[in-house]
Amino acid sequence: MRQLRALLCLCLLAQVALASRVRTRRELGPGLYEHGVYDAGGSYCQRGDVCCHGRDDGCTVPYQDTLCYCDLFCNRTISDCCPDFWEYCLGIPAPFPKAPGCARAGHTYPTGATYQENCNLCTCGPGGQWQCEDHACLMDGELIDAVNRGNYGWRAANYSQFWGMTLEDGIRYRLGTFRPSPTVMNMNEMHMNMDSNEVLPRHFDAAAKWPGMIHEPLDQGNCAGSWAFSTAAVASDRISIHSMGHMTPALSPQNLLSCDTRNQRGCSGGRLDGAWWYLRRRGVVTDECYPFTSQQSQPAAQPCMMHSRSTGRGKRQATARCPNTQTHANDIYQSTPAYRLSSSEKEIMKELMENGPVQAILEVHEDFFMYKSGIYQHTPVAEGKGPKHQKHGTHSVKITGWGEEQLPDGQTQKYWTAANSWGTAWGEGGYFRIARGINECEVETFVVGVWGRVSMEDMPHK
Ligand SMILES: *[C@@H]1O[C@H](CO)[C@@H](O)[C@H](O)[C@H]1NC(C)=O
Ligand SMILES: *[C@@H]1O[C@H](CO)[C@@H](O)[C@H](O)[C@H]1NC(C)=O
Repeated sequence: MRQLRALLCLCLLAQVALASRVRTRRELGPGLYEHGVYDAGGSYCQRGDVCCHGRDDGCTVPYQDTLCYCDLFCNRTISDCCPDFWEYCLGIPAPFPKAPGCARAGHTYPTGATYQENCNLCTCGPGGQWQCEDHACLMDGELIDAVNRGNYGWRAANYSQFWGMTLEDGIRYRLGTFRPSPTVMNMNEMHMNMDSNEVLPRHFDAAAKWPGMIHEPLDQGNCAGSWAFSTAAVASDRISIHSMGHMTPALSPQNLLSCDTRNQRGCSGGRLDGAWWYLRRRGVVTDECYPFTSQQSQPAAQPCMMHSRSTGRGKRQATARCPNTQTHANDIYQSTPAYRLSSSEKEIMKELMENGPVQAILEVHEDFFMYKSGIYQHTPVAEGKGPKHQKHGTHSVKITGWGEEQLPDGQTQKYWTAANSWGTAWGEGGYFRIARGINECEVETFVVGVWGRVSMEDMPHK
């Protein structure tokens, strides 16, 4: 009798196979319950409200990417019954162990289910336990609390634009300045003419001295191109100041990222000396003319869309239209050679006060990403968490001023004010303050100034 049915079934199979792929799969597929571990506690026959007596090839419900059966025939091999067939249709326990599933917030999730816990992916393992990756995250609730509980002089915050990123990603995508090579480091320092007992003001803010000429902090997004952002930022301010406000261009970081490609790596990092070489020899257009488009680090570098030719005496003229077709003004702005300042706090202050904002490299540690307000100093909060949580990388920023604050214990805390390139929602409106005079995070190690190339013809005649 059984054999007959099997034979009949084979003939039927041959006929139906063409018409119904499901049928073929039903006969040849491996036991569904083997996949069924993905569906611990899943309800199929029950949800579909089907239980068919005898054979009924239409008695199915969707199951993952195929179908499962709720008819008695499926019980023949238990190969294609829905996971809840036995319990729901026959009222007996399933003849295979039920996968345990993982509990979370009052729900049971099947084996293989995943969820994202900040920067780590957690997967429900076969033993009914969540297994999570173990990366150090860029935003870390414990570290934020530790900074805010401690007496470090600054506050930390959780930034949604950084949430879910690993610390490694933060260092890979949010910085982007190569450490100056020893040759560049040994560049002759320019010394300011300073009287040793010259008294400098206690507070200085470039935006107050040069209103309308200090440009807002930029946002490099996930482009490791701080070399281009800090260079464009310092050059924009300095050209504005040195032209006495006749020109106030916001220069284009994208022009540098896409066109200054010799030994530079665009959104994967670059050198400051190379950026200044390009600003002197080739020049760049405004950000409006050549807007930032590399928001995400892209595998392929974007082609250079701006070109220029010499018009004599080192000046250049654009030979391409603005990539932003809404803008016609494609003037090229250039600088004179950049010069390195000494690491003396006083000399940096004097240069800043007389000639405008300066560029500085900055060694960025894990806690800096969480900076919200106050005077930053690198803290030891991550030390207990192991080396994975204490990474750092080189960045560059624009210093725009200084000041000092009285601490509750009567001591004076001196600081620099600097513009970062992580947007104006980060820190103090895009700026941060950092301890001054102690080379905090190497901020006084490599400081650069420059002159805008401004000639009489750039000044309108009165
Ligand atoms: C279905 O299969 C189970 C396990 O093989 C068996 O114990 C049970 O008697 C079967 N039920 C029917 C109605 O065939
Ligand atoms: C941080 O912010 C994200 C989203 O903006 C939020 O999901 C997360 O719970 C916050 N974490 C902490 C520790 O505050």
